Amino acid sequence: MKGGLKVPLISLILIGFVCASVILLAYVKSPFLSYWTPSQDRVFQISPDYKVKDEEVLRERNRSGQSEDNVNFESSISNSSTKDKVTEEPITNTEIEGSAGIPPSFTQKGGDLKALKEKNSSREQENEVTAPLNSAGIAIENMTSDSKDHGCNYAKGRWVTDDSWPLYSGFHCKRWLSAMWACRLTQRTDFEYEKLRWRPRDCEMEEFTGVKFLKKMENKTLAFIGDSLGRQQFQSLMCMITGGEDRPDVLDVGCDYGLVKARHAVRPDGWAYRFPRTQTTILYYWSASLCNLTPINASNPLTDYAMHLDRPPAFLSRFLPRFDVLVLNTGHHWNRGKLNANRWVMYVDGVPNTNRKIADINGAKNLSIHSIIKWVDSQLPKYPGLKAFYRSISPRHFFNGDWNTGGTCDNTTPLSGGKEVLQDESSDAGAAEAVKGTAVKLLDITALSQLRDEGHISRYSIKSTPGVQDCLHWCLPGVPDTWNEVLFAQL
Ligand SMILES: *[C@@H]1O[C@H](CO)[C@@H](O)[C@H](O)[C@H]1NC(C)=O
Ligand SMILES: *[C@@H]1O[C@H](CO)[C@@H](O)[C@H](O)[C@H]1NC(C)=O
Ligand SMILES: *[C@@H]1O[C@H](CO)[C@@H](O)[C@H](O)[C@H]1NC(C)=O
Ligand SMILES: *[C@@H]1O[C@H](CO)[C@@H](O)[C@H](O)[C@H]1NC(C)=O
Ligand SMILES: *[C@@H]1O[C@H](CO)[C@@H](O)[C@H](O)[C@H]1NC(C)=O
Ligand SMILES: *[C@@H]1O[C@H](CO)[C@@H](O)[C@H](O)[C@H]1NC(C)=O
Ligand SMILES: *[C@@H]1O[C@H](CO)[C@@H](O)[C@H](O)[C@H]1NC(C)=O
Repeated sequence: MKGGLKVPLISLILIGFVCASVILLAYVKSPFLSYWTPSQDRVFQISPDYKVKDEEVLRERNRSGQSEDNVNFESSISNSSTKDKVTEEPITNTEIEGSAGIPPSFTQKGGDLKALKEKNSSREQENEVTAPLNSAGIAIENMTSDSKDHGCNYAKGRWVTDDSWPLYSGFHCKRWLSAMWACRLTQRTDFEYEKLRWRPRDCEMEEFTGVKFLKKMENKTLAFIGDSLGRQQFQSLMCMITGGEDRPDVLDVGCDYGLVKARHAVRPDGWAYRFPRTQTTILYYWSASLCNLTPINASNPLTDYAMHLDRPPAFLSRFLPRFDVLVLNTGHHWNRGKLNANRWVMYVDGVPNTNRKIADINGAKNLSIHSIIKWVDSQLPKYPGLKAFYRSISPRHFFNGDWNTGGTCDNTTPLSGGKEVLQDESSDAGAAEAVKGTAVKLLDITALSQLRDEGHISRYSIKSTPGVQDCLHWCLPGVPDTWNEVLFAQL
């Protein structure tokens, strides 16, 4: 009996081994895998990956060293060929439920988790967030923030453990939270990072509640414009306001801003939602570079795009009059590979750039950031109610390599590199310099996020891919929640 069992067992092991090898080989050889895998590149995936790759190779050959930059990410509602569209989220609900190994009590209703969490929350107001708003709820809110010091430095402080965090469950918030960023839906098992709150040293930071936020933003519109890290902040805010609960009353108002999915596109260029009771609108628009992009030859479906380093995205100039709060960010698309893949060609003053200093990626980024901030600043006198923020760079934490060379962020122990920010200056000197002398405020999250290397997606994903880690994006709930708390305090 025993001997009889052994043979098939060994065969099974062998077969398993062979399969594993084949998969591994396929992974190593596959030319397009690197495009859909996590990492910073997830932010600009374009669907016909193989095609882009070819073009990149072609372009590589004729590299002039300067003006080879493209991708029409921003243009699914403009005149791009709708084929080159983003495939950021091919994740369906069935995939989520099938592969994540979540205890059923949590997947189905998740009430247990919430109940546990909130039972002894010192912050009872949080409970209101999860319930639909009622006028009484709004009425009892007392806006203490008006009296606080707007001049203090929220970026200086330390991380503390707070058992009442997070403000929403990563099992929920399915309407707004992308499954790929909901680490509760992955194989990840450590969640200490969800319990950390930022405590500024020299300022009272008002605790965030959805009720207070909506009251502050009554009849107002908040717009995030930026790359995928801006999108993370947007999703985080939607979850924070709703407590991650389903809110059927919240309206999709993307149409009001032209944010509709083009035919053949995988997704629209952004999203906009309105909370009807307070008429508060929160929106996000994808603009990875904060430059205006225009097709160089509009009648050519494969056209390059002029990337106007000194001109604001058309979406921003068009809709700015409607915004009350604006949060801009850029940073992680400023590298040759992405510019090439997107077919972005640097333009300055309406013509192809010839300035060597600007042609350098960092020079171009610097010019672009200065330009957009200067432009917004120039608009502020026309819109006295508008509060504009430039969000400093979100740090990456690739150790022992970069995103495409096996870099990792495996640490699961929070704050092993320290928990305090003591410096007065921003770690993002370029951003700090760019807002200097303008009325645009810096939403300075760089140093505080730098301490949170354990908070990234890391190797976990719904479709986990061996060897490739995302040490750029953050688990949600997670670090971007803090960005929003700091933003809220400054509104
Ligand atoms: C490379 O440049 C040369 C001359 O500038 C041009 O003739 C050729 O078509 C280009 N090749 C590609 C692949 O763009
Ligand atoms: C496409 O471009 C043309 C002119 O360049 C413009 O009139 C038209 O509105 C654009 N279409 C879209 C959908 O943006
Ligand atoms: C919860 O709070 C109540 C009263 O605030 C206290 O009596 C109880 O011991 C707490 N339970 C836990 C598990 O902390
Ligand atoms: C907020 O509360 C303080 C004291 O609790 C009170 O003096 C103040 O009037 C309240 N403000 C509003 C706007 O209700
Ligand atoms: C919001 O708009 C409504 C309708 O115009 C108005 O009645 C209300 O006073 C406004 N609230 C604030 C805080 O401006
Ligand atoms: C624009 O693209 C069309 C279609 O590919 C081509 O026929 C035309 O010559 C191009 N125009 C310019 C100015 O390059
Ligand atoms: C960035 O651009 C601004 C404005 O164009 C310029 O004054 C500044 O010197 C630049 N900084 C760097 C580091 O190039």
